[in-house]
Amino acid sequence: MSLIQRFSLLCFLALTIFVILIGWTISSTMEQHMLHKAIKESADIVQQNVVKHMEPADLAQPKIGQEYNKFSEEIEHLSLGPNIFKLKFWNLDKVIVWTVIQEQVGKQFKENKHLDLAIKGQVTTEIEDSHGLHQKYHDKDDESIEPSKTLELYVPIKVKNSTQPIAVVEAYYNLDPLYDEIAIHKRIYWSRIIVGFALLYVVLFGIVFQASKRINYQNFEIKDMFFQIISTLVNALDTKSSWTKGHSQRTEQYVELIAQEMNIIGEQKQQLMLASMLHDIGKIGTYDSLLDKAGKLTKDEFEMIKLHPVQGVSILENIKQLQNALPIIRHHHERYDGSGYPDGLAGEEIPLMARILTIADCFDAMTADRPYRKALSVEQTIDELDKNKNIQFDPELVDIFIPLLEKLEGKKF
Ligand SMILES: [Fe+2]
Ligand SMILES: [Fe+2]
Repeated sequence: MSLIQRFSLLCFLALTIFVILIGWTISSTMEQHMLHKAIKESADIVQQNVVKHMEPADLAQPKIGQEYNKFSEEIEHLSLGPNIFKLKFWNLDKVIVWTVIQEQVGKQFKENKHLDLAIKGQVTTEIEDSHGLHQKYHDKDDESIEPSKTLELYVPIKVKNSTQPIAVVEAYYNLDPLYDEIAIHKRIYWSRIIVGFALLYVVLFGIVFQASKRINYQNFEIKDMFFQIISTLVNALDTKSSWTKGHSQRTEQYVELIAQEMNIIGEQKQQLMLASMLHDIGKIGTYDSLLDKAGKLTKDEFEMIKLHPVQGVSILENIKQLQNALPIIRHHHERYDGSGYPDGLAGEEIPLMARILTIADCFDAMTADRPYRKALSVEQTIDELDKNKNIQFDPELVDIFIPLLEKLEGKKF
């Protein structure tokens, strides 16, 4: 993944988590605040407009007959505001003293923890949806006035100078308008947060995109400079002897053919190509007279030439980017039967990349004029490659390389 792709993904994930956390925190805080305000307002209304009008004698026993009608009329005249739609009065035995559904008057509900707390003197609340209410109070006939969310407010009714309540009033507060308002506020908050973070994302992306472009350009420049330095090194070698001029570039081309055929890609291919260009760089330290000598080399002269793979590694070993190319350079004169140099490795002990380079290197050396002999024809060279399978060359690589040469030359050998 590129820098910009990684940044896009991680930044998107981080900002999405932030949006969810911040959005959730703000909207739930706002909801709690509005709900708390509504509870306080409705508790004040009940205290001011209901509790203060009650007399102790009114609420001791369930209202029946004429008393029920009279009390109903009194309730009708109370000012309850737009959202309180139903009242229910309980005595301290948890018996309904009065409610709008006359059949419920006189019924006792023992299991109600909110009512218990109100009887002890606390104002308590509970939020119910209409389904919950139906189940709890069996108010199925009363569906017409049931909102989808209801706040049940239990307010203790106390007489003057007493801390103990004489009864409890339960007020039903319609929360639907409040939740509609909360939903509108939530939509506004969420859309502002999302737009805000989207803008932040765009700005951050823009900054990182520009930075990444600059880094890519600088990387390209550094790579370009690196390859120019490599070319300069190879050119320095070429100027030593006209006989080996162009050998590194041609070897690199043959190596590339084999690499493509073997599907060698990425970093491995890059190191192979660099090694191909630089494989004889150790000859920089060899006397020009040896490179240009017309006759056969003496044993001592050949021993000097044999040092070039190790000398090449010594020249290049401080370049971090070439560390994986060094073994290829060191072993490009090993032979498959183990009689090569510098380490006498055999068969698959020789790194595969070095075995590839050996074939390409020898093919170019044989098909080029040298001071001590004339160039072999492609046909003769292919014959040599074939004869030296398992001796100098990896037989499988020879079998890969020969068809590639036939394709290159446009004929079968
Ligand atoms: Fe070499
Ligand atoms: Fe070579």
